[in-house]
Amino acid sequence: MPTRVIALMNQKGGVGKTTSTANLGASLAEIGERVLLVDLDPQANLSVHMGIDIFALARTIYDVLMGDVPVREVVLRGTRERLDVVPSHIDLSGVEVELASAVGRERLLKEALDRYLAEETQPYDFVLIDCPPSLGILTMNAMTAACEVFVPLQSEFFALQGMSKLLEIVNLVRRRINGTLQVTGVIACMFDGRKNLSREVVEEIRHYFGDRVFRTVVRENVALAEAPSHGKTILEYAPKSHGAEDYLDLAREVVSTRRQEGTHHEDPRVPGQTDLRPVPDPGPTRQGGRDAGGSGQDS
Ligand SMILES: Nc1ncnc2c1ncn2[C@@H]1O[C@H](COP(=O)(O)OP(=O)(O)OP(=O)(O)O)[C@@H](O)[C@H]1O
Ligand SMILES: [Mg+2]
Repeated sequence: MPTRVIALMNQKGGVGKTTSTANLGASLAEIGERVLLVDLDPQANLSVHMGIDIFALARTIYDVLMGDVPVREVVLRGTRERLDVVPSHIDLSGVEVELASAVGRERLLKEALDRYLAEETQPYDFVLIDCPPSLGILTMNAMTAACEVFVPLQSEFFALQGMSKLLEIVNLVRRRINGTLQVTGVIACMFDGRKNLSREVVEEIRHYFGDRVFRTVVRENVALAEAPSHGKTILEYAPKSHGAEDYLDLAREVVSTRRQEGTHHEDPRVPGQTDLRPVPDPGPTRQGGRDAGGSGQDS
């Protein structure tokens, strides 16, 4: 079975990308999958979440992208059973500038990762890449290396804002760089079933993304917010919490929706649909003229 390389991306900040990468990754490992997590965010939140002392690291993904070092020399093996991590570093924030004129700069991660995956005697079932909250060169590298995109969304009013831009970029990358790239999963995060708004937003997300939205929604759960400061996954920090339950359910759902071979351009759950239609960003009209950015509409 080929490795599923998945970029968790959303240019909007604080929507649950890192929480989902860490805890979906841990949950996939828990149910028997072999997982590699790649921290591609200069904030290094994923690395910290996984309990890694980022100040003690000699080498990180930064050195990989700058071309000096192979992934195998950077990867932290066995941080958990079946779970390895490629850590990040604050220096990564400089790559947008440092790689500004480098030829093929959007392919650096893919080339390094492909080399590593080809060498590995124990193949990974999943590689999850945690992206920074932007659509810059780092996210571009993730989209070039991945075959799937998962989009975590916060179950709040502005959830869909910026989605048309995100889908436009994914489509552009598919046309120009990586013909296999597909948005195959949308994760509704921080869902509060007591709020009408949360329920309405998830309905709206389902309306736009259809079957690509995972049936499992991740409920708002304080343990999920506490776990990172302990350097623990939710399965370690609060194994009986809603957060642990939801991410384990999500992991089972992700495994059950494994793409069949030869369906690179079509999501089997959305027959015949190759491109998601552009999502009209909820405009300023519905929120008193405020625009959280990303839609290009000035109010
Ligand atoms: N289901 C949840 N319930 C409660 N808190 C959550 C949940 N999911 C995420 N959080 C918290 O919300 C905040 C944002 O989550 P997270 O860091 O995963 O978002 P992100 O998209 O990675 O952010 P950034 O764009 O800055 O990288 C964090 O403090 C996290 O602990
Ligand atoms: Mg993050």
